[in-house]
Amino acid sequence: MNEKKIIIAIDGHSSCGKSTMAKSLAKKLGYVYIDSGAMYRVVTLVALRKGWIVNKVPDTEKVIAGLSDIKITFKWDEELGKNTTFLNGENVEDEIRQLEVSENVSPISTIAEVRHEMVRQQRQNGKNKGIVMDGRDIGTVVFPDAELKIFMTASPEIRAQRRYLELTEKGDKVNFEEILANVEGRDKIDSNRAVSPLKKADDALILDNSNLNREQQLEWTINKVREITEEK
Ligand code: DC
Repeated sequence: MNEKKIIIAIDGHSSCGKSTMAKSLAKKLGYVYIDSGAMYRVVTLVALRKGWIVNKVPDTEKVIAGLSDIKITFKWDEELGKNTTFLNGENVEDEIRQLEVSENVSPISTIAEVRHEMVRQQRQNGKNKGIVMDGRDIGTVVFPDAELKIFMTASPEIRAQRRYLELTEKGDKVNFEEILANVEGRDKIDSNRAVSPLKKADDALILDNSNLNREQQLEWTINKVREITEEK
């Protein structure tokens, strides 16, 4: 068997388990995992800290000028079983997941220069292959030649239900209808933005996980990886 390393691009709708799948896959294969969404979140965090976003509207020029001072790195935390995101060496993993960042990341991710710089850094990470990257434009823009492209999806109701359970288990008081509206709203923004909209690459395989558990999804994907790496 040839153990040649490949690039695996995972795109899809929000809250459909992309990062969970990408992480388990990377772990199983001994690959690097990169969460491209975290990178857009870091830029958003910087913009918020510097006061470059007012009422959800970013000062595009300031954000673009600030890009060269942002160095994003990741470190795998074996104990926690997750990736930690660093901004110029500072651990910002928790901060980038906060609601304020989630609420402001969309306008930041529509700035063409921001996307250009993130894509450049993402490609750097992939130059030695052996990488799993998840996001919205990985198979279409970042790695159009990725050997394996997966487009993950599930019905909005199922995604909202999963998110609802996740939040209520954490003790958050949330309303299902609001979560469903948020999931549908984000689908709309992601799919309709002018720059790099979320869309399935022509050669991506669809993984609709509405009725699959995590193990079944991982098994399905590992089989696809084997088909590719063993035929090389
Ligand atoms: O995957 P996530 O929810 O952490 O992503 C955060 C935001 O970044 C989300 O609004 C979509 C955007 N994003 C993007 O535009 N392109 C990517 N490759 C990844 C995320």
